[in-house]
Amino acid sequence: MIDPSDALRRRILDLVTEYVSQAFASKPFIPGQTPIPVAGRVFDANEVCRLVDSSLDFWLTTGRFADAFELALARAAGARYAILVNSGSSANLLALACLTSPALGERRLQPGDEVITCAAGFPTTVNPVLQNGLIPVFIDAVLPSYNADLTQLDAALSDRTRAVILAHTLGNPFDAEAVRDFCRRHRLWMIEDCCDALGSTLRGKPLGSFGDLATLSFYPAHHITTGEGGAVLTHDDALRRLVVSFRDWGRDCWCDPGRDNTCGGRFGQKFGGLPFGYDHKYVYSHVGYNLKMTDMQAAVGLAQLEKLPRFIEARLNNFTFLREALGSLGDLFVLPGAAPESRPSWFGFPLTVREQAPFDRRALILHLESRRIGTRLLFGGNLTRQPAYDKCHIRSVGPLQTADLIMNRTFWIGVYPGLTREMIEYVVATIRRFCRP
Ligand SMILES: Cc1ncc(COP(=O)(O)O)c(C=O)c1O
Repeated sequence: MIDPSDALRRRILDLVTEYVSQAFASKPFIPGQTPIPVAGRVFDANEVCRLVDSSLDFWLTTGRFADAFELALARAAGARYAILVNSGSSANLLALACLTSPALGERRLQPGDEVITCAAGFPTTVNPVLQNGLIPVFIDAVLPSYNADLTQLDAALSDRTRAVILAHTLGNPFDAEAVRDFCRRHRLWMIEDCCDALGSTLRGKPLGSFGDLATLSFYPAHHITTGEGGAVLTHDDALRRLVVSFRDWGRDCWCDPGRDNTCGGRFGQKFGGLPFGYDHKYVYSHVGYNLKMTDMQAAVGLAQLEKLPRFIEARLNNFTFLREALGSLGDLFVLPGAAPESRPSWFGFPLTVREQAPFDRRALILHLESRRIGTRLLFGGNLTRQPAYDKCHIRSVGPLQTADLIMNRTFWIGVYPGLTREMIEYVVATIRRFCRP
């Protein structure tokens, strides 16, 4: 017999579908009036139905949708495991924190150890290094990839170096194979920040599959969204267990929410100074956090993941169109280029205003914003110049001149799948008119 609540659920979801088609119907584009953001959520009734479906379960914490999303995400990202968290920043924090576990013996990261990273980028690629009592060692970036200058890796190395954490800037791959070789040669951990790069490949392999750990963000600006959200990827069983422990309060037990005694020894073990048989559910082997994703977010993620191939395609097409249409402005801008042997899942289209241009970045950005065309700087520019790091123990390799150039002259515009060809043509025409009046 059909449960009457199932029939009600079906009716609710049908109504939600009808609601979405009315409430979020697309509106005509009016040049100069309709905003052209750099990024945004792209969704249909599927996402909203999954969200409502999960809310009707009223499970609230991690549950059936999270289990399904973790499996599907790992498959899509080419990883053995995906561990869901509540943001990309949390993913970076966990990727670093798990490497401090005593379970890793002499390979564990200890206060005062050094971690090589890039000066140009997003702060929460670097913050976990400081938050774990480690020292970030900044190398410069290079144009036109905006990625870390890998020729500086050797100069950054010291007898305290233990790890490398680098982001694939705006989805454009750095040479992760070369970094992996460097890390293997020097017994370093490698973390790939893929928060802006879900779906990019290098030499046919997905980004995130090169390092020991990789991270993703599902903030609305990103390739897929769960509102807030992120994930840690790894192919290593032991690292997965450590990430989960640090994510879930630092506990030793690995039971899923709502489950008990997965290990079969819930009341039959002895830990540290605790009495024999102390409930394993309340045994803590790490100084952890609670950074879990909720099932409602995971439900949205599942629906978004189905769209990922088409999102990647649209980002690439929009990028290619912009690259061709703005190609004649190479005397005024450094134009972006994909890394060799890569297929980037672009996050944005970066432009660096050349010194000889008869205008500066600020004038151009203000002009675009006045025409309702969204722009963004390349995140924190040269991070070492941000006030947050004034009093922090950091080390830099050389003068970081390109990071300064990025801070002073670079900005990016959107390529996200919500942009129509009409919008992108308007962006191109506006930039062209400004540059060659
Ligand atoms: C490279 C990079 N890493 C990490 C993050 C942090 O992600 P979240 O906003 O989900 O915390 C971002 C944010 O956009 C990012 O661009």
